[in-house]
Amino acid sequence: MKSARDRSSNSSRAPDGAKPTVTIRGFEIFKGYLDSAAQSELVQVVRGVAQKAPLFSPVTRFGKPMSVQMTSAGRLGWYSDTSGYSYRDRHPSGAPWPNLPEEVSEIWTDVTGIDRTPDCCLINFYRGNARMGLHQDKDEGDFSWPVVSISLGDEALFRMGGIERSDKTESIWLSSGDIVVLTGEARLAFHGVDRIKQGSSQLLAQGGRLNLTLRIVDL
Ligand code: SIN
Ligand code: MN
Repeated sequence: MKSARDRSSNSSRAPDGAKPTVTIRGFEIFKGYLDSAAQSELVQVVRGVAQKAPLFSPVTRFGKPMSVQMTSAGRLGWYSDTSGYSYRDRHPSGAPWPNLPEEVSEIWTDVTGIDRTPDCCLINFYRGNARMGLHQDKDEGDFSWPVVSISLGDEALFRMGGIERSDKTESIWLSSGDIVVLTGEARLAFHGVDRIKQGSSQLLAQGGRLNLTLRIVDL
C-alpha cells in the first residue's frame, strides 16, 4: 500500500482552489481563510448543529474527562469512552448526527480539491483551560485522505510534530478564520492545542474557541 505521502491524488488541490499561506512539514496553514462574515455564518451553522446534537463531555480511553466539549455532524461522529476511540452513527442521545452542512463541505472542496464530501465534521469547543494533548488522527480507515481543521473564536497555540511522539515540535498561534490541512507527512503527525488565549476574539458571545475537524472516515 502506498503511503499517505505517495498517494497525493487524494490531496491534490483544484487548479482554482485556495493556496496555503505557509506549509510546515505537511501542515498547510491557510491564514485568514474565512473573513469575519464567513466566520459569523459558520458560528450560526454550528449553533444549528448543536441544537440538534448538543455538545457533550467525553472521557478519554483512560477514563479521564476531556477538557473540550464536542459534538459532530455528518454520516459519522467521533466518540470516545473507556472502550476506546471510535466513529459512531449516532449522538449519545440515540439521535442520528445532523447532516454535514453545505458551508463546511464547500470549504473542504476549496482547500483540498477533493470532489467527495467528508463523512465527519467533529466540533470541539474550548473554554477556559481546555486543551488537546498531543495525538495522531488515526481512527480512520484510509490515511491517504487529508484532514481539514477550521478555527473560530479565541486564538489557539497549535503544536505540530512528526510521526513519532518524541519528534521535535513547532508551535503557531491559530486565529479565528484560519484553516489547517493535514496532508502528506503531516497526515499522521502528532499535533495538539496547548492552550487558548481567552478573550482574544469577540466572535463567540460567551468567548472560547470552536474547532471543526473534517475527515473522510472510510471504515
Ligand atoms: C484536534 O486535532 O483534534 C483539534 C485541533 C484544534 O483544535 O485545532
Ligand atoms: Mn487531531
